[in-house]
Amino acid sequence: MTLPHQAQRPRRLRATAIIRDAVAQTRLRGEQLIQPHFCLPTESGSEPIESMPGIYRHGTKEMLMQIAKDLSLGINKILLFGLTTDQMKDEHGSQSGDKDSAVTKAVSAIKAEFGDEVLLLTDVCLCAYTSHGHCGLLEDGVVLNDESLGPLAAMAVAHADAGADILAPSDMMDGRVAAIRDGLDAAGHKEVALLSYAVKYASAWYGPFRDAANSAPGEGDRKTYQMDPRNSDEALREALLDEAEGADMLMVKPALSYLDVIQSVKQATPLPLVAYNVSGEYSAVKAGAERGWLDEASVVTETLTSIARAGADMTITYHAREALKEGWIEK
Ligand code: PBG
Ligand code: ZN
Repeated sequence: MTLPHQAQRPRRLRATAIIRDAVAQTRLRGEQLIQPHFCLPTESGSEPIESMPGIYRHGTKEMLMQIAKDLSLGINKILLFGLTTDQMKDEHGSQSGDKDSAVTKAVSAIKAEFGDEVLLLTDVCLCAYTSHGHCGLLEDGVVLNDESLGPLAAMAVAHADAGADILAPSDMMDGRVAAIRDGLDAAGHKEVALLSYAVKYASAWYGPFRDAANSAPGEGDRKTYQMDPRNSDEALREALLDEAEGADMLMVKPALSYLDVIQSVKQATPLPLVAYNVSGEYSAVKAGAERGWLDEASVVTETLTSIARAGADMTITYHAREALKEGWIEK
């Protein structure tokens, strides 16, 4: 039955906050957010990251203090990135698999202090440890695929030994999910889960992160391993391969330029889907807000809602802490 057009008044459902909330299709909660952390290779210390206002590199002590505060806000999922010094980097990224890297130390300390109160994820990639800054081993300007799998699996095992709950490989080498899964199982870590950065684009939005982690490639770019922004069919291929290789959850990264990809990956797989609202997306909002050009609370809420609406079950965002502290998003 078609009603006369005067009877069609969509505004009825927008009349009050109560009715808007009642018919809202997307509900965003603090429990869907994951807060990233940058771990300094020192016991203590705290360095602001210039390109990411409000975000710090923390030594173990400050990190524990920050996590305690975050827990009281309702943030109990964290993703750790390890840092090292230039002197400790080498061609092979040898420190990545160390049992006393910045990350493994932080993982042990966090688990000792908070146990299962926090869900602890770690990024698994060589770029913060290699002198050339690529995510895999490099030979004659080529990033080697199969040769990089052993070091990645070793890094994953080191993190699992320290007590990480979920490992998140971000390198984009082919076959690394299977290699890491095999490595973990062989080391007796069948319970440790894998969140693969399955669909990771070669994006300009990682700029501030590479400053934060001092992990920019010295020469060349990451286009031979990260995805081409012009492609979306390939995202399904990557997602399905990682699912077949044993990933427990999948990620699409970055989030905002790739909402279409989030939606199609979500429809193609039953695995939980995580989106990464990356450093540049954070810093661009911060810069606009600092100039008074954007209302940060509304922009952040709208942005995180759009990522959830596209199909992400969880979102990694540098805004998690502020969003909960300021009440932009409910616990
Ligand atoms: C390391 C890694 C990167 C990010 C997460 N893991 C950088 C890159 O691939 O160059 C980016 C995160 C962000 O921008 O917030 N492979
Ligand atoms: Zn990397």
